[in-house]
Amino acid sequence: MSASESTTPLVSQGTGSGIPPGSRVVIVGLGLIGGSLAAALREAGVGGSDGSVIVASDPDGEEIRRGQDMGLIDAGSTSLAGVIDAATLVVLAVPVMAMRSVMVELKALLHRADARVVITDVGSTKAAVRDTAVEVFGEMPSRLVLGHPIAGSEKSGVRASMASLYHNHKVILTPCENTAPEAQGLVEGLWRAAGAEVLIMDVERHDQVLARTSHLPHLLAFSLVDTLARQDERLDIFRYAAGGFRDFTRIAGSDPVMWRDVFQANQGAVLEALDDFEAGLSRLRQAVTQGDGDAMLGIFDRASHARHYFDSLLNQTSYQAEYQMQETAKLRYRVAPGGGVTGRIRVPGDKSISHRSIMLGALSEGVTEVSGFLEGEDSLATLQAFREMGVTIEGPHQGRVVIHGVGMHGLKKPAGPLYVGNAGTAMRLFSGLLAGQAFDTELTGDASLTRRPMGRVADPLRQMGAVIDTAEGGRPPLKIKGGQALKGIRYDMPMASAQVKSCLLLAGLFAEGETRVREPAPTRDHTERMLTGFGYSVGRDGDTCWLRGGGSLTAGPIDVPSDISSATFFLVAAAITPGSDLVLEHVGVNPTRIGVINILQAMGADLRLQNSREVGGEPVADLHIRYAPLKGIDIPVDQVPLAIDEFPALFIAAANAEGITRLRGADELRVKESDRLQAMADGMTTLGIDNTLYDDGIDIVGRGEGDGGVGPSGSPSYSPSYSPSYSPSYSPSYSPSYGGGRIDSREDHRIAMAFTIAGLRASAPIEVDDCANVATSFPTFLDLARRVGLSLEEERQEGA
Ligand code: S3P
Repeated sequence: MSASESTTPLVSQGTGSGIPPGSRVVIVGLGLIGGSLAAALREAGVGGSDGSVIVASDPDGEEIRRGQDMGLIDAGSTSLAGVIDAATLVVLAVPVMAMRSVMVELKALLHRADARVVITDVGSTKAAVRDTAVEVFGEMPSRLVLGHPIAGSEKSGVRASMASLYHNHKVILTPCENTAPEAQGLVEGLWRAAGAEVLIMDVERHDQVLARTSHLPHLLAFSLVDTLARQDERLDIFRYAAGGFRDFTRIAGSDPVMWRDVFQANQGAVLEALDDFEAGLSRLRQAVTQGDGDAMLGIFDRASHARHYFDSLLNQTSYQAEYQMQETAKLRYRVAPGGGVTGRIRVPGDKSISHRSIMLGALSEGVTEVSGFLEGEDSLATLQAFREMGVTIEGPHQGRVVIHGVGMHGLKKPAGPLYVGNAGTAMRLFSGLLAGQAFDTELTGDASLTRRPMGRVADPLRQMGAVIDTAEGGRPPLKIKGGQALKGIRYDMPMASAQVKSCLLLAGLFAEGETRVREPAPTRDHTERMLTGFGYSVGRDGDTCWLRGGGSLTAGPIDVPSDISSATFFLVAAAITPGSDLVLEHVGVNPTRIGVINILQAMGADLRLQNSREVGGEPVADLHIRYAPLKGIDIPVDQVPLAIDEFPALFIAAANAEGITRLRGADELRVKESDRLQAMADGMTTLGIDNTLYDDGIDIVGRGEGDGGVGPSGSPSYSPSYSPSYSPSYSPSYSPSYGGGRIDSREDHRIAMAFTIAGLRASAPIEVDDCANVATSFPTFLDLARRVGLSLEEERQEGA
């Protein structure tokens, strides 16, 4: 197997969490690695009242004395023979090249150890240690469990030992076929006691992975620094060394003897990695030689985003939370009750249009310049996926993205699965686009997306001739077989879904003949408008749209308007808060998206469109909203698809209206990023808002004007743990509509934002759990919310 193939190492979940009482742990070699292990075991209580002891051998008597003075070991000796008696666990903490002589000595002494003695090592390459063991012992001992802690420090010697060296670091164990399970269990327990995470891999895989992640980078650093240090102007080079070169000199400052050993021990895997690197280097050399800026940008763009992308993929998190916080974290919002809503703001770019701008730009001939691009995780996932397929994309920088289109047939096979995080739109639109490619692909997403139905796109695509595998129940991942000849179909959509319609139109671009889609109710038409903008002819007659495959797209500029779905949170915030007066600038008001405007106006909101204009084929306006009392309504069924993403916020408007608001025909809400009907019903119940849930809708009993609301004490069961500085900001005349409480947002961005704005009319604080995904669609939500007058904080959720 090549090291670039994706195989997931097993994270060991074993129960062993330490060293059994009465054990005798023998550490052979008391440097930084062995000393830190002893320190960590001490901290975990080994060698105390449980009758266990930690002993060590090291040829350097000074190190042993220091280890004893530091309290790391109970006893020590300069010879292995001096400590081996009755050993339970022997840890060979010596360099790989010293392993042979230690094993020879150990073999001769093993009769003096406990018969059940378990041996492990810490060598940084594993095949060499295994081969040495086989040579010395005649076969691989079943109680020798090979291991490699991925931790270290620039310092060395026992003096530098740290109990925390292994905390939250990975230790890779590479058991062999005959390794005894209880021996492996003991070694897992050892490392877990030291605070490490234990992973299991096979020996060859370990060496390949380490060759690429550690050995090759060191080799390059040694070589680069040595090469530059030999040149005539070397003094200047080192005098002005900054940034990049400094980092190389830091890596090249590592222990030369140790690294010589590593390259001797892991020769084969290192040479393989070096071959790959040389091939990459010659591609880059060629780009530089030819002055091929596109090729250079392609390589640099992919490289500069690789870490964020792969970290997100590994943690199955969305994209930017990882990037901003450098680790997976859960976020909670704490919203103080009350606050105002005034000012002029511009919310970020439209998510639907941002996704499509990248997709169509990538498939077109020429360069597409996008402004107003949403730098949220969902659209960034789409952008990164195209980079993975060889498209050069500059940015985003403050909403500006430049896409160097590769034409209809220019995408390249990605090296692995395409990860789209939380983005349902990306997965569904991609499935159509990828079904028409010459290569195979796999689409994966985060936990929420992995629960969402994909049969709605896979089934009609199969009718077009696509070959697509889904997981059970039509869920992701989607495995799409390339090289299929697609045929246009006529498809009557069973549900009103712009994603399904867009998916089929994108597949239709690659299909023979005409692809026609009929929708049961109007859904957003950005795909049709944008295709037309890219010079592709799309027909429309009533409820049906169509196109013929085989054409091409021509690049052009795209100005993405602000997202009406993000604006909605502030529209509702203003609509429910007495005294509010807010302008939302440059909002997209495409007729297929303005359900929220129609519904709020029907409820009595004082909401006006100003400065209406058309920008790049999409209608845009400034939205001016002032407080006016709302009343409950029966939401017209024809407005449901036009406001499909806006219902979480609209439910909060309903909770503040006078009388009952009834919604039906909205069963699609059950299969969004969460079951939004259930999530909102549960959250509203927590706040004391009466509601009745139906399969396809909900009734919400408003507590707005006329009902007197609930008093500031209206949340009897909830006593939040707030600091005094976080007291309610409402005045005595403030009239809350419901109480406060802790809300489970179900990691759904729109649920999180809806309950945040609910705080404007709550009698007590609202805490909203799991808000990190707000960054999928609205990364600047908190800043803007504070700017208009909400009082809220974000904090890391404990236990995350
Ligand atoms: C979207 C369509 C809608 C919407 C989603 C974005 C799109 O989904 O909920 O947030 O960009 O096409 P459905 O078409 O599945 O209703």
